[in-house]
Amino acid sequence: IPVEPFDLVIFGATGDLARRKILPGLFRRYCSGQMPEDARILGAARSEMDTAGFRQMVAEAVAEFGGGRHCEDGTLEQFLEIVDYEAVDAMGDGGWEALKGHLRGGFVRAFYFSVAPSLFGALAERLRSFGLADDDSRVVVEKPFGHDLESAKALNATLRQHFAEDQIYRIDHYLGKETVQNLMAVRFGNMLFEPLWNAQYVDHIQITVAETVDVGGRGGYYDKSGAMRDMVQNHLMQLLCLIAMEPPARFEPDSVRDEKLKVIRALDPVDYHHIVRGQYAADDHQPGYRVHVENPRSTTESFVAMKCHISNWRWAGTPFYLRTGKKLRGRTSEIAVVFKDAPHSIFDSESGRHRNVLSIRLQPNEGMTLDVTIKEPGPGGMRLVDVPLDMSFAEALGPEVEEVPDAYERLIMDVIRGNQTLFMRGDEVEAAWAWTDPIIAGWQSRGEVPKPYDAGTAGPEDALMLMHRDGRRWREIR
Ligand code: BG6
Repeated sequence: IPVEPFDLVIFGATGDLARRKILPGLFRRYCSGQMPEDARILGAARSEMDTAGFRQMVAEAVAEFGGGRHCEDGTLEQFLEIVDYEAVDAMGDGGWEALKGHLRGGFVRAFYFSVAPSLFGALAERLRSFGLADDDSRVVVEKPFGHDLESAKALNATLRQHFAEDQIYRIDHYLGKETVQNLMAVRFGNMLFEPLWNAQYVDHIQITVAETVDVGGRGGYYDKSGAMRDMVQNHLMQLLCLIAMEPPARFEPDSVRDEKLKVIRALDPVDYHHIVRGQYAADDHQPGYRVHVENPRSTTESFVAMKCHISNWRWAGTPFYLRTGKKLRGRTSEIAVVFKDAPHSIFDSESGRHRNVLSIRLQPNEGMTLDVTIKEPGPGGMRLVDVPLDMSFAEALGPEVEEVPDAYERLIMDVIRGNQTLFMRGDEVEAAWAWTDPIIAGWQSRGEVPKPYDAGTAGPEDALMLMHRDGRRWREIR
């Protein structure tokens, strides 16, 4: 379904995110027919460049980071026709009038801040003072949204000086992932799961976002941030909210975001015995974290595992185990809901222990598996075995969904549609920092150093112990 015609201005249009995600994503939406003929995309950045130069850059970004299945020959040339560029000085007056000259009346107008958060204030102010933005315009901001509660509050205050909350779209790209949205469909579209979705039936929940990549060229940023700020405060927290929240009354922005906020506010402070930090070590073949970030004494974590509790009626007593890290054995993002044992076994004890586990694979091979217990085939008596009811979304839904839209594509189209459901509200972000800040402060005050772990493993031994102590096991990272 095509969206309304729009003018989208991307600040930081020559940057990494724009080249990797935003511009190729917009091109794929163009190919899919979702973008109307009179959409306009305006790149803005500090670099002096003309439109031809920028179009060349966009073409290269598309070549490198992918067009889509529907992108036929010749579409790129057509797409480039709707792309323009203007050099703009975020901190000064240069370029703003020229940029304004590109904007048309009567169209949806959105400004994407794909820049360092330190520029948000300057951009917001100039959008208003030069008259580019009005009360209907939308602004899109990227993470990191602050590095602690105080800075997040300051950013919110700065943005709100110029824009109302319903004009601000804070991106957490995990919310744009197809399977993450599927989580809501599974929970609230089926009768089967919701009655069992509570402490009475659920033994524990595991959320894993494991990556094989290292910190890449982002060492400077990452070393100041670490896995807690980079992944847990936003992506894992959002997954936790979607899995734990009460059913919202409607699938509408504030209905959903109110429920997520309640989850974050109900999280207990985490006992420091229940958190393990790790940092990948060097081995014979490759350098470790400290070399990657060029900081030989870095005590920043590239891995974190923790046990948390949500103090509310639904979840009291059910632990949530979270873990994420870089340089791990596999790229697996998964949420597993592990149900309790049946209250009484009518089979003899040799049948062993069996549990239903619902696992939702976010990536790769998006899908869902439900482990159910059945009789092992054969004449050997009543021996039980767990088998997966396994569904790959791609297989189940057929070839038309083979190409799942990238999270950014989906989210940018939602901005144009004016739908904030999959964007974080200011109070959510602040609540998430209010929960993470004391954890980080605790590490600092105790002078805690992360445990080294070998690349290609599941993280430090202590992370395994975190579960073993409770008589539980992490699911495998494949
Ligand atoms: C980003 C983090 O927000 O998410 C990165 O800054 C991380 O460190 C990335 O690698 C993971 O995203 P995805 O979509 O590849 O799972």
